[in-house]
Amino acid sequence: MEIQLWREILDPYALAVDELVVKFNHIIEEYRHVGAYSPIEQVTGRVKTISSILEKAQNKGIPLDDIEEEIDDIAGIRIICQFVEDIYKVVDIIRQRSDMEIKCETDYIEDMKESGYRSYHVTVYYYVETLKGTRKLQVEIQIRTLAMNFWATIEHSLQYKYKKNIPSHIRERLTSAAEAVLILEQEMSVVRDEIMDAQNSFTIKANIVADILTNIQNLYKVANKQEVVKIQDDFFRIYQEGDSEELKKFSKDLDLVAQRYRAQSLR
Ligand code: GTP
Ligand code: MG
Repeated sequence: MEIQLWREILDPYALAVDELVVKFNHIIEEYRHVGAYSPIEQVTGRVKTISSILEKAQNKGIPLDDIEEEIDDIAGIRIICQFVEDIYKVVDIIRQRSDMEIKCETDYIEDMKESGYRSYHVTVYYYVETLKGTRKLQVEIQIRTLAMNFWATIEHSLQYKYKKNIPSHIRERLTSAAEAVLILEQEMSVVRDEIMDAQNSFTIKANIVADILTNIQNLYKVANKQEVVKIQDDFFRIYQEGDSEELKKFSKDLDLVAQRYRAQSLR
């Protein structure tokens, strides 16, 4: 097939990947803005290369005309979570969305693959708008923890290095590494609540500090310099003392000061 034709086929998939990465990143933002823990840690996406599409088609005996129907991972999204529990939360989020229609899902976490591979796979239909009209595309979403991703990435590069014939002594190592990942995740799940609490209060504090700084910055434009410098000094002192409640109170008071100036400027 000519390069130009490939481009026509793959362009909508690139659009789908770009859009979905933006959308999933926005979910992270939404959680952060309300100071909540995000089940999504990181999102990446890619469009399969022409050579790997051809290789897959050849291996599976797929005629070129059926590529788009038969190869469901031309567009691929990878969502990385911190904890196994988060993965199921993300799957729920996907299920509830009106812009993605689930075609099929496979839980390789409940049913680990023989290789030791674990991840949750969801294939969705996703619509993109192109100059030629609306296109309904398949997108493969892989959802896994940081630890699962670590394992899969290493195993994948070994598969690549050994051209899919990984020597048995290395296979054994990979199997025990997969078991170690499992144990690590069980351990992490136990402390998950504590870690989430810590991250929550960290985000909340970061949001308060951001609010305060915005207010101070705006006050510089309208308020008396001395007053702002005093506010700023007070802020640094409270910040250094590290008492979150004090910081919250300070932020509320500052809001009132800012409101007062806003009311004055509207007069
Ligand atoms: P594919 O022909 O690869 O699509 O197989 P499939 O349709 O049976 O899908 P499957 O769910 O098995 O795998 C889809 C994708 O998951 C692969 O393209 C890999 O990215 C990933 N994957 C599946 N199995 C393994 C594995 O054993 N090791 C690693 N590293 N990745 C895997
Ligand atoms: Mg597949």
